[in-house]
Amino acid sequence: MKRRDFLCGASCLFAGFALGHFSNKNKQENLFKKEDFYEINGLGGLTVAVSSHCNLNCKNCDVYAPLAKEEFVTYEQFSKDMEKIKELAPDREISFAFMGGEPLLNPDLTKIINKSVELFPNSEKTILTNGILLDKMSDDFWDVVKTSNMDFGITKYPVDFNMEVIEEKAKKYGFKYHYDIVKSNKLYSLKTREVIDENYNETEGFDWSQNILDLKGTQNYIAKRFTCPHRGINVYARGNIYYCYVHAYIKAFIEYFKVDIPITKEDYIKIADVNDIKEIDDFLSTPKPLCRYCKQCHNTCYGGEPLEWGFSKREITEWT
Ligand SMILES: C[S@@+](CC[C@H](N)C(=O)[O-])C[C@H]1O[C@@H](n2cnc3c(N)ncnc32)[C@H](O)[C@@H]1O
Ligand code: SF4
Ligand code: SF4
Repeated sequence: MKRRDFLCGASCLFAGFALGHFSNKNKQENLFKKEDFYEINGLGGLTVAVSSHCNLNCKNCDVYAPLAKEEFVTYEQFSKDMEKIKELAPDREISFAFMGGEPLLNPDLTKIINKSVELFPNSEKTILTNGILLDKMSDDFWDVVKTSNMDFGITKYPVDFNMEVIEEKAKKYGFKYHYDIVKSNKLYSLKTREVIDENYNETEGFDWSQNILDLKGTQNYIAKRFTCPHRGINVYARGNIYYCYVHAYIKAFIEYFKVDIPITKEDYIKIADVNDIKEIDDFLSTPKPLCRYCKQCHNTCYGGEPLEWGFSKREITEWT
């Protein structure tokens, strides 16, 4: 599966369903019972937030990595939680996208992938990376990439980067990979962070955009349950499952800007507390209050203009 599918490809069973806007959570909850807004989204895949932070700081980063403190999923936690899922649903093949922040920063990454192969040998597996650390990865890592039948998704940013290393490794270890090229008409130097070539132009690629938050929390979260193209991108982080990457990563935004956005118990499910896989399926199939704080998925999903890619200044306007 292509990397963009993980961020934009949730299935749209009820697209077009829209309700009016409501000014606050209580008003919304008085009018609707959440069970009436069930959309089947059983657990079949997980994006694993293997690291929250990053070695590149893109402005508008969808996962707030420029704002995140160092945070990893550990091998021990991953093993315990995935063994539990296997025990609860032995017949399910869970697919995995290993993502960050920058996943290659996680010192347990090789062991984590190995565990996913041991428990779910036939599922699809992908790593989504900016590729900066690829030439530093150990032979053990490349061996597991090969044996896991991993698809490698590399985002090619307009920064200095040696692409030959991945081509060389792909030949040696025989794995699949693809590039996603961030469109930009400027080439930046990663070292100096200055624009070094104004005429640099990629002809193919995807647009840079902005996922806009609503700090007042006035969005209709029940309608978003059926309309947002990002819903159903289930993310595993901190022993929990979240139903959208905004929910899983927004902690960094909240802590950095000290804003009052509550992450309630309704917004995540702790794997250790689950007794039946249906609890996770039900969790993923119902609206989540945290969506009140998200105005839209990418502005371009709603006809907005693409943005110029650049480095983050860690200003709140990059996300609002
Ligand atoms: C969140 S990144 C994490 C993995 C890795 N750090 C990378 O950049 O490939 C996963 C994907 O989301 C894309 N993405 C992140 N923020 C974005 C934005 N504001 N607009 C468009 N795509 C974005 C990245 O370009 C990348 O393809
Ligand atoms: S989009 Fe940029 S800042 Fe965000 S995680 Fe990927 S490389 Fe890092
Ligand atoms: S938080 Fe935003 S992007 Fe995520 S499902 Fe809700 S509305 Fe969509």
